[in-house]
Amino acid sequence: ALERTLSIIKPDAVAKNVIGEIYTRFEKAGLKVVASKMKQLSKQEAEGFYAVHRERPFFNALVEFMISGPVMIQVLEGEGAVLKNRDLMGATNPKDAAPGTIRADFADSIDANAVHGSDSLENAAIEVAYFFPATDVYAR
Ligand code: CMP
Repeated sequence: ALERTLSIIKPDAVAKNVIGEIYTRFEKAGLKVVASKMKQLSKQEAEGFYAVHRERPFFNALVEFMISGPVMIQVLEGEGAVLKNRDLMGATNPKDAAPGTIRADFADSIDANAVHGSDSLENAAIEVAYFFPATDVYAR
């Protein structure tokens, strides 16, 4: 089915100047960028976005990392977009990421792991709405 998913290019990958290379991977896989913005997240925004992880031991490090520089946030649309994006990203820990995935090629560690992608269709809707009002998402 046609789906939308939220993708974030994290501060490490923005700093490495690989936004375009990552966008090319989305496009070559048939995913369309239907909304996008660069943003320096506030601590409050990052904490709210990752609220499901609030009790995890890595929560504070995750939030500090996500506010360490600007991120590139986009909505991707396409057939099976949620799983397709997760396949393109590879495993959360780059040490476990399959060759040719975004994390295998651009990530340095489980914290600085280049990209975030929604893990389910349900969370995708929540995450898209967290960053983009419906009027800023362009169906095409
Ligand atoms: P992300 O997909 O953005 O969702 C939560 C992030 O927490 C994850 O990517 C990792 O960058 C980070 N993280 C750090 N340690 C862990 C861990 N042990 N398990 C899962 N995520 C972790």
